[in-house]
Amino acid sequence: FHKARILPAVFAIVALLFAGSAASAKTFKMAIGDAQGGTQWALAEKFSELFTEKTGGKHKVSLFPNGQLGSEQDTINDAAMGTLDFSLLAVNNITPFSPTVGVLTLPYVILGLDDAVTLTHGEVGKELVENTIRDAGVRIIGWAYSGFRVLTNSKKPVATLDDLKGLIIRVPKNEIMIATYQAWGCNPTPMAWSETFTALQQKVVDGQDNPFITVSAMKFYEVQKYITTIRYIFSLEPLVISEAVFQDLKPELQKAVLDAGQEATLYSEQYLKDSEAAIIKDLEAKGMEISAPADDEKEWIEAATSAVWPKYYDSIGGKDKFDSIMKVLGR
Ligand code: MLT
Repeated sequence: FHKARILPAVFAIVALLFAGSAASAKTFKMAIGDAQGGTQWALAEKFSELFTEKTGGKHKVSLFPNGQLGSEQDTINDAAMGTLDFSLLAVNNITPFSPTVGVLTLPYVILGLDDAVTLTHGEVGKELVENTIRDAGVRIIGWAYSGFRVLTNSKKPVATLDDLKGLIIRVPKNEIMIATYQAWGCNPTPMAWSETFTALQQKVVDGQDNPFITVSAMKFYEVQKYITTIRYIFSLEPLVISEAVFQDLKPELQKAVLDAGQEATLYSEQYLKDSEAAIIKDLEAKGMEISAPADDEKEWIEAATSAVWPKYYDSIGGKDKFDSIMKVLGR
């Protein structure tokens, strides 16, 4: 062959190869419900760093915090349809789409970080992942551990259920949480997370509950004064990937997603342990008044567990399922 004919052919092949590899390098999108600075952000940054590292720097994940890509309900829908790659949100906002996950938001089931880790790892966790793929079209690949959801309000210290009466409390659009507040004698206002700061600021609602770290990341100290350290839900934040997107990935990329998710989950556990105490101090320094519920929370626990648990056995898979989960927790 003549050189003049070979060279253009070689160039064409090199250009094709280059175009091929450039086209397959992808920047995935991740929607994050919370603002930067909390446990969701810490997990997301770690995941993105690990994922890029595991793909030899080829693939990236861009992070969109603070509901920029829509409410947590919207981003779950988008991921289910395959128009969004990743969503990181609070567990209470995935339950409407994947009812068995509701066991993680039943009041006073998870009594601390150890329980949260036990349920998200192991057999219970695996089953919840499978159920969520089936019911919601998304795959949970990691968890952020965020601590107990504490009650904040702008009006007065709250210690008893009587103190709670008359306050307008925002809750997520989560039936179990609505039922819990009703069991506490309060008629809560269900509202999307992305609207909550403004509603508190404009005094449409008096209070809400979320972990200390979230209260801090969302700057709720600017619009809330009192914190009651109730412990009814230990907040978990699942990181999900669209199942349609996941199934389209080559096996080695699927593995990178799963491994990065697992490692980021372990990191999140440590992040909570390392940061919660300092954040509580900082919230106090910023003027928040923190107090405990009266009588070791007894009336709160009794009212919530007796009214709410039996109502939701069916949606989480039956009373036997509930009992088996409690057994895993040693109760
Ligand atoms: C909520 O209250 O809706 C959630 O906890 C929001 C979140 O932190 O993602």
